[in-house]
Amino acid sequence: MAARPVHELDLPLLTTIGLERLDAIAAIEAARSRHWLAKTEMGYSVTRLEDVTAILRDKRFHSALSMLPQMSGMPELAEGRVRRQSILSMEGDEHARLRRLVAPAFTPASANRLRPTMRAVVTDLIDQIGDDGTCEFVAAICAPYPIPIICELLGAPRQDWKLFSSWATDIFRIFNGTLEQDLPFIERAAAELTAYVGDMIADRRANPRHDLLSDLIAIEEEGDRLSTEEMAMLAEAVLMAGTDTTRNQLACAVALFAEHPAQWDLLRAHPELAPRAVEESLRYLGAVRATVRFASEDVVYRDVLFPRGTIVSTSLAGANRDPEAWEQPNEFDITQERGTAQMTFGSGIHFCLGAALARAELQEALPLLAQRMPGLVRTGPVEWKPANFGIWGPAKLPIRFDVDYASRPAEPPATS
Ligand code: HEM
Repeated sequence: MAARPVHELDLPLLTTIGLERLDAIAAIEAARSRHWLAKTEMGYSVTRLEDVTAILRDKRFHSALSMLPQMSGMPELAEGRVRRQSILSMEGDEHARLRRLVAPAFTPASANRLRPTMRAVVTDLIDQIGDDGTCEFVAAICAPYPIPIICELLGAPRQDWKLFSSWATDIFRIFNGTLEQDLPFIERAAAELTAYVGDMIADRRANPRHDLLSDLIAIEEEGDRLSTEEMAMLAEAVLMAGTDTTRNQLACAVALFAEHPAQWDLLRAHPELAPRAVEESLRYLGAVRATVRFASEDVVYRDVLFPRGTIVSTSLAGANRDPEAWEQPNEFDITQERGTAQMTFGSGIHFCLGAALARAELQEALPLLAQRMPGLVRTGPVEWKPANFGIWGPAKLPIRFDVDYASRPAEPPATS
């Protein structure tokens, strides 16, 4: 039987734009219960774990990041600076070579090197909260947390953290949907970052240290090594992919714990639950809800023809709540041994390069916060970012905690 062209199928419509968090999940669930495939504003979406994994591992589907200029209505930029190759948009042998070369610099062991810095940064940020135990958690902790870690990873000195922070903010304008007006800021920030990293690379060639750039310089495989341009691109990718993600994921996790106080108490009493708390938060409320692919050729998948150029969004949020894959998917429980791996780091060739680092950052931050912020409650509603944001989470999370108990050692809770 010939494959049916995708546009001929009678599919549910899935639109999450403008929806509240729970309504967005309900919309995904409604679409998933009708069909494995849904129609969206931009193309199509898969929402089941099996299909999300299959599409992300299918090399005929390419990252849609390279199509950002077209999707922003500015195809003329496709050949310009914004189009500069990034590891996130590379495919095939070129991507495989780069991943092979950089993999040794992104192991759990290299992430562990930064754990003392992570603890110090979080401790310092908590110490800066006023004596009344109230704060807007995103501004107080999440926003400043990742930049010093990425700077330490790269080897940039403390006095330059603010520079990195402003470059990251400007480069992130690429996702604002107002590319025409943002382009000068994006280009200037990227050029400054590249020049800065270029200087650092020259310095590390002469004086290697314990940092990512020195590791990247040292990496050599069968005579192949990274060029200065490739290292600068990686530094930019790490800054872009490794700051707003962690920041939003931490805010998502704490917003969740504020809704589940018994789980917060449990984490406080049992910091050894941190790795499971991190995986469960990533599963239940991931900061990356979806990632987008396009068919690089005519692709037949499950007897459906996706003509070349068709856009397919893979719903990581949907996969993480797929009832076929998870028992009680809508329960947040940090004690459950879940047999399936959560999908918020993606899958396939673009699987998050910084997953070990992100896990370490969250594993260090959450138990420390639980220890120092007992009795955490929200003092107002969470202001969520719009659901269509690529990297998503609370824009504002007002909280209060019991300062009086903050320095006392935790006691195991009586129940649960
Ligand atoms: C909780 C935090 C994070 C989440 C949820 C996250 C999520 C993701 C996802 C879903 C992808 C795949 C995108 C796709 O398939 O199109 C990805 C790729 C990537 N991430 Fe992360 N990420 C996080 C933290 C980090 C950190 C800390 C770094 C810094 C080292 C990082 C660096 C990267 C890079 C370089 C890629 C591109 C890999 C490639 O294309 O081969 N990420 N991330």
